[in-house]
This record gives sequence, C-alpha cells and structure tokens, in this order.
Amino acid sequence: MNFDSPASSRRSFLKTSTLAASALALRTNPILAQATHADAHIEILPAEPIATISPEIYGHFIEHLGGVIYDGVWVGERSKIPNQNGIRTAFIEAMRAIQAPLLRWPGGCFADSYDWRDGIGPRDKRPARSAFWNQQDNNQYGLHEFMHTCRAIGSKPYLAANLRTLPARDFYQEVEYCNAPAGAVPSNSAAPAAPNAFAAQRAANGDAQPFNVDLWGVGNESWGCGGNLTPEEYAAEFRRFTAWTPSYDKTSLRLVAVGPNGDDIDWTTRLFQALHANPERRHLWGLSIHYYTSGSPSKFAAGDALKFNSDDHYDLLTRGSIMEKVVTDHWKAMGTASKTLDHQTVKLVVDEWGAWYGKGTELAPQYNLSQQSTMRDALLTGITLDIFQRHADKVAVANVAQTINCIHSLMLAQEDKFTLTPTFHVFQMYLPHRGAQAVRAEFTAPAISNPLANAPIPVGGNSYTGSLEAVKTLAGLSGSASISPTNPKLLTLTVVNPHLDRPLTTEVAIRGASIASATGTVLASPDIHDHNDFAHPNAVKPATARLASPTGGRLTHTFPPASVTSLQLTLA
Ligand code: AHR
Repeated sequence: MNFDSPASSRRSFLKTSTLAASALALRTNPILAQATHADAHIEILPAEPIATISPEIYGHFIEHLGGVIYDGVWVGERSKIPNQNGIRTAFIEAMRAIQAPLLRWPGGCFADSYDWRDGIGPRDKRPARSAFWNQQDNNQYGLHEFMHTCRAIGSKPYLAANLRTLPARDFYQEVEYCNAPAGAVPSNSAAPAAPNAFAAQRAANGDAQPFNVDLWGVGNESWGCGGNLTPEEYAAEFRRFTAWTPSYDKTSLRLVAVGPNGDDIDWTTRLFQALHANPERRHLWGLSIHYYTSGSPSKFAAGDALKFNSDDHYDLLTRGSIMEKVVTDHWKAMGTASKTLDHQTVKLVVDEWGAWYGKGTELAPQYNLSQQSTMRDALLTGITLDIFQRHADKVAVANVAQTINCIHSLMLAQEDKFTLTPTFHVFQMYLPHRGAQAVRAEFTAPAISNPLANAPIPVGGNSYTGSLEAVKTLAGLSGSASISPTNPKLLTLTVVNPHLDRPLTTEVAIRGASIASATGTVLASPDIHDHNDFAHPNAVKPATARLASPTGGRLTHTFPPASVTSLQLTLA
C-alpha cells in the first residue's frame, strides 16, 4: 500500500475474546489442530445450517435525489444516450448482470413529501414541484416509469409510501392503483360486476395489468425527515395506515414499519411495545433499519471518499462491521419487547446501508450526495453482505444506498459517461449465495485494533453512536459460507481480508467433508484508494483467483491484502 500503516503495527494476533475462543477451538478441534504454517483458519460447518439466504438482501434503492433518477436512471426517450423507453440502457444492463432482485423507490426522505398522483398520466401534463432535497422535480419519472424500470431489469418493486404529508387514504388508493385487477371485477354484493376505477385509470395510463406490488414501506425515517414522531406516535400512524389496506388475492402485502435511526434500540423497543399494546397489528411484516457508516475522520481525511489514510481505513471498516451488532441487538429487542414469538415472523429490512462520506468527490454540484467508490468500499460491501448472509435467519431484505450516483454506489453516470464501481463487482461475485443455505463458518485470524476507536463519534444520522468498546477491534478476516440450493456438494465461501499490507495464508477446512476442488474470483488492487472513473472504467476489476489444489481434503490459500474473494468449493 502507498502509505504507512500505524494500525497494522498495533495489530494483535488473537487478542479479542472472540479470537481467544477461536484459538481454544483451534487447539481442541482435531481438524484444525493438525493445521500448521497458516496465518489464519476457516472451518465451515455444513451440519450447522442458519437459514436460506433471501435473494432480496441484494436489493437496491433509488431516490429522487441529486443525479440518481434524472441522469442516472432516467435520460428520457429522446436522449442521445442509449435508452430503453427513457431508461438508461447501461443501468438496465448492469442491474441485469447482478440479477438485482428488488428496487426501492421513490425515497428516502423524498418519499414523505411525494404525491404519487403527480407522476402518472401524460408526461407533458405532469406538474413540476419543489421537492425534498431542495430540488425541483418535473415528475417525468413516476410510478409507471419505475414499474417499467423494474420490468426491464427483472426486479421486484419496493415502494415507500408517504406518511408525513399525505393521509392514509392516499396510501390505500396507491395500493389500489397498483394492485386492483384489470377488467370488470365481480362484486360480492348484489351490485353488478364493474371495472375498478383505479385499475381503469392505470390502464388509461398505459398499464392494464396490475403491478402487484407486495412490499411497502410505511413512511421513511419517521423519527426524522419523515415527521419527527415518537415511536408511540408512529405506532398509531402505522396502525391507521395498515389496518384496512385493500388486499387482492394475487398479492398479499408485506408491510414494513419504520425502524431505528442507526442503533437506536429505544425506538425499536418502544415501537414494538406500542404495536403489541393493540391487537390490530396483523400486517407488520418487517422492521426497517437504516445504518450508514461514517468513519471518525482523522484530520487528514476530512471524511472524503478518496483522501483517507490507513487509520481512516481501519476505522471505517470497524464501524461498518457494527452492522452485525445492529442486526443482532434489534432482533433481540423485537423479541423482548413483544414478549411473544412474533418477532420470529417479523423480519429485518435493512433498506438503507453504505459508507457515507463528506463532500469532495461529487460528480458535479447538482449531483447531491454523489461520491467516489474505492476498494475500501468494496471491502465494506463484502463485510456487510457477509453479515447479512451469516444472519440469514433475521435479515430478509436489504437495499444498498444508493445504486447509482449517490452514497455507496455500484454505478456512476454523468450524461453519456458511465462506469461501474468496485462495489458492483462484489455484488456480482456474491451471486452464488442467493437462495443458498447459509451455514456456520468459524474464522480465526489476526485481529486489527482500530486506531481511531477513541475518536469522537461521527456527526450525522443513521450511524453507530453506541459503546466505544464495540469499535475497538476489526476482525482480521471475515466472511460467510453457503451450500448451493441445487447441489449439496457445492459450497460458496466469501472472504474479506481488510489488512492493508498483510496477505493471509489461510487453511480452509470443512467439518465432516473433504474439499475435492476449488475455483475462485478475487477483487484486489495495489492501492486501497484505487477506483474506477469515466476515463478508467476498468482500473479495478475482478480476476480469477490462483488456487493450489486441495491437499488432505483442505485448501490452503493466501488471501491478498485488502481483497474480497469468492470461492466455489466442491466436496469429495
Ligand atoms: O439515502 C439518503 C438519505 O439517507 C435518505 O433519503 C434517508 O432515508 C436517509 O437519511
């Protein structure tokens, strides 16, 4: 790496209690005890299944914010930029390449000031409005354009409803507009069959067939931009918005309640207590979590996506790894507060996550919250997806924020220029995990002390504000494992080595089985700051991992510094 690494000198092997426990396991486990000459060990336990990994944890989020929709996704039908019905072709193709399962829209904070009726009907008749994020929205991209985007990609829609500035009636009608069946509907009273008025309006606007949207966020960040409500006030609103939503045979609704600001356990506990105080809560399917990672920037970094040193690097990844604590703490709080087994049916929906930096690398001033994305962000992506996979029993949906031109992006676009970021490549490398059976895997590796553990807590919402203890140590190697849904002898193992200058020779073993062969892909680059831009779209791209043949049923592999690796292991 290009800079000195004070954090690495403070690195300690097997210092944390977790690692000490792993070391004990190493001595007492017959498989690992035979191991020698390795810096690290991974043991996969196929007999300890966690859950099926929901394909929807690889979901996406696009908001009317800066250059996300206008220019990023929507270029218009008459644009010289290649497009399909106005939607940027490069965006569609990239989303298809990663089989994007889910797309959340229209916000974010934007959703709570958006009227869905402004974005339907002939485009030349739609109103231009002052919108959230201090911008004007001309409503050329609305509900139908969004559904066409989902259709072109092959993803499911996830709509965020307005709870702050529209009454519940508008939500009910939006559901009806999206989901009421086409044509004359038989009445269950003596009245004759008649077409539903909203379905007829939808057909007049070009889509006779229902959109069948099942996943709905009921408001967004209602503790902040979504209304500054208390959990109790929000619980009452949630009940009013969801108790009598229209439902149609084909689409049973999955309604997602607004969850905490970052790690705010108090919100979740009080929300669940308030919801459970009233039996009319039957529609609650998921609890949303927004967790962004903002490091505690050193003077050098000033929170820039590109200007950071090794301390900032380790700090950001340590704070990003707190996602695991956020997931497990909130899961526990949901269960404790409900005092029933209900929490096992209410899933976590991490519908905004990513690394959020300060200004400095935006594409242009009007591309609000756009930022560059480096190898450091690729590592955070791997760490985060591995956490979701390890907690496949809890996390059902997740949406990276945001897919294009905003925060933790997979793509950057400006007019006719377009590039994929390193984060895109990680999403592609993790494809074999989707729908697979997550199984427990034990990682034993040199831990890293966070050199900025005692620095002030980052300013800004949605990030970790809890105990400093939790941000002291970063796992020296982390990842997750799963068994293919179609071939029980095929395992996927994804691994992140966050060390900036230390390759980790690692022995991979599978309890109760032998590895017959292995293939793999690796994403690494000489400098952690490396990234793709319009002039160099292939500066960072994955390569085939060079693997030795397994010996004695085990694989020994050296994970390069600052790398993400995806291995396919075939069992004997
Ligand atoms: O993703 C940007 C913003 O971050 C979203 O609009 C909001 O929900 C969150 O605070």
